[in-house]
Amino acid sequence: MIRPVPTVAAMRPYALADIGAELVSLAQNESCFPPSPSALAAGREALAMGPLYPDPDWHALRQAIAGVHGLDPQAILCGAGSMELIGALIRAFAGPGDEVLAPEYGYIYLATACQQAGCAYRTAPETDFTVSVDALLAAIRPATRIVFVCNPGNPTGTRLQNTELLRLRAGLPDDVLLVIDQAYGEFDAQDPAAIFTLTGRGDTCVLRSFSKAYGLAGARCGWGVFPPAIGAEVRKLLNPNNIAAVSQAMAAAAMGDAAHMHQTVARTAAIRRAFVTRLEAAGLALPESHTNFVLIPFASTAEAREIDHCLRRHGYLLRPMAGYGLAHCLRATVIAEGPMMEVAGIICAAVVACRAGAPT
Ligand SMILES: Cc1ncc(COP(=O)(O)O)c(C=O)c1O
Repeated sequence: MIRPVPTVAAMRPYALADIGAELVSLAQNESCFPPSPSALAAGREALAMGPLYPDPDWHALRQAIAGVHGLDPQAILCGAGSMELIGALIRAFAGPGDEVLAPEYGYIYLATACQQAGCAYRTAPETDFTVSVDALLAAIRPATRIVFVCNPGNPTGTRLQNTELLRLRAGLPDDVLLVIDQAYGEFDAQDPAAIFTLTGRGDTCVLRSFSKAYGLAGARCGWGVFPPAIGAEVRKLLNPNNIAAVSQAMAAAAMGDAAHMHQTVARTAAIRRAFVTRLEAAGLALPESHTNFVLIPFASTAEAREIDHCLRRHGYLLRPMAGYGLAHCLRATVIAEGPMMEVAGIICAAVVACRAGAPT
């Protein structure tokens, strides 16, 4: 019999959203707006580079990122999605006997990445769906090697003030690596400069993604700012030719079109606000989102399940949240305004029916 190594045999496969082909998906936090036209043009042009391996140093892409954010290109590493960078960071700095700590509702891929690395994954309580710096600091143990904070958070959509992240870093031991995942950072109006500056301490990394505000989830492209000694170790674990030439070209052009990205963010926020207003008018209370999705808590797990079934019957798929320990919630990615408001109407009617004991 051919046997896998025990750590892999013990793993459960990563649970992606169950995307029914015939359902409209609000389950994966993809952008509902297309990428910049210049990204599309750059991608078409880069198709001609098909016979060649892509640039393993991501020169043009790093230059574009560094130029926009005022960073040193050498401090930037790019990944096949920020997921690749998350996995490499954990494998490089946490192994058997070590622990990775995250807030209660940390990004669920962290648990999978920890299993791959053979380290333990622990969480610290949140307060009202918001990260608690005090709870994280209180949960640090000698085995803690990495603290991972997603800001704004997925699946909550809430965010910490940057000053709180600075307080977290100041309170952590120097030998604990802090990773700040800003996959949704463009949707947060806070200036990220103070967060990027933290990487200068040598013990903090910041991750970003092209999958959300830039509308390039299909390109699989993420990036991060790494202290040199941390980046050198992470780089050893990346596929040397990790990002396709077409994706690099699209991402570099998208980074250069800040106006398009800001328009995507503003239009997404407007649809999100209208959706939340409608749900709040029906008596639902949602945590304040600074992202392209909202978390919707219902009165009970049974109510959430009933509303999920009702939405599926109408052709819509939201993300059930049992995997996050939030079985009474559904998460809705912002989609185009018309269908988004139809989803709001279905949810409101179904909540009224559920609470009246009537069929949805
Ligand atoms: C918090 C968070 N981090 C990272 C990622 C991964 O993004 P990417 O598509 O860049 O791999 C996601 C994707 O949904 C996310 O929600």
